[in-house]
Amino acid sequence: MQVTIDGPAGVGKTSVGRQAARSFSLLFIQSGQLYRAMAYAKKNGLTDKSVKLSVDDRGETHLTIDGEDVAEKLETEEIGDLASQMAQRREVRDGVNDIIVEESRDKDVLVEGRDIGTVVLPDADLKIFLTASPRERAIRRHKQLGGGRTVDEIEKEISHRDERDKSREIAPLKPAEDAVIIDTTSLTKNDVVNKISDLIRRRAANP
Ligand code: C5P
Repeated sequence: MQVTIDGPAGVGKTSVGRQAARSFSLLFIQSGQLYRAMAYAKKNGLTDKSVKLSVDDRGETHLTIDGEDVAEKLETEEIGDLASQMAQRREVRDGVNDIIVEESRDKDVLVEGRDIGTVVLPDADLKIFLTASPRERAIRRHKQLGGGRTVDEIEKEISHRDERDKSREIAPLKPAEDAVIIDTTSLTKNDVVNKISDLIRRRAANP
């Protein structure tokens, strides 16, 4: 089964996606991490080709740049912003999409991002689009980052990044026509995971 979860920054795609993927033994792929890795590679004078995604024996994905696991270094807002700028370029999107399509082929996967249901896996079995108000997303990100910047600053940044993602010419952020839209503003993480799990179960029962 192929499941896609798309939505704006800070909506919880990664945390709920990871949990749902574990429950149903789906390979979990974070496309945003790939864009961040492309940004990190560029910033450090490395080529796109140095970014590799691999799957270990336990079915966990590992992202390396030039052989080094840099997962933690990708989480900064600076890299997020650079990723969102680079994500406007066709050659960067093609490179990321090729990696995802290759890793998803003939596998049960859950892939999260901005354009997975619309562009990357348009024939996916189940497409989900998560939304939440910008304020709520900024509060969640603030908790996750553990201080440093204020909620107001984070809200401004994610709104700016959303605007760029929604208005770009190639693969803009938007729900697929056949996506199930879930507004998570007043839901807990567990509520969202339960809703997604129900949808996956129902889809698996009606292939
Ligand atoms: O999801 P995350 O915030 O890690 O993604 C970083 C940036 O990568 C996003 O702001 C977006 O511009 C870009 N991205 C994208 N398409 C995807 C996933 C991420 O354009 N499928």
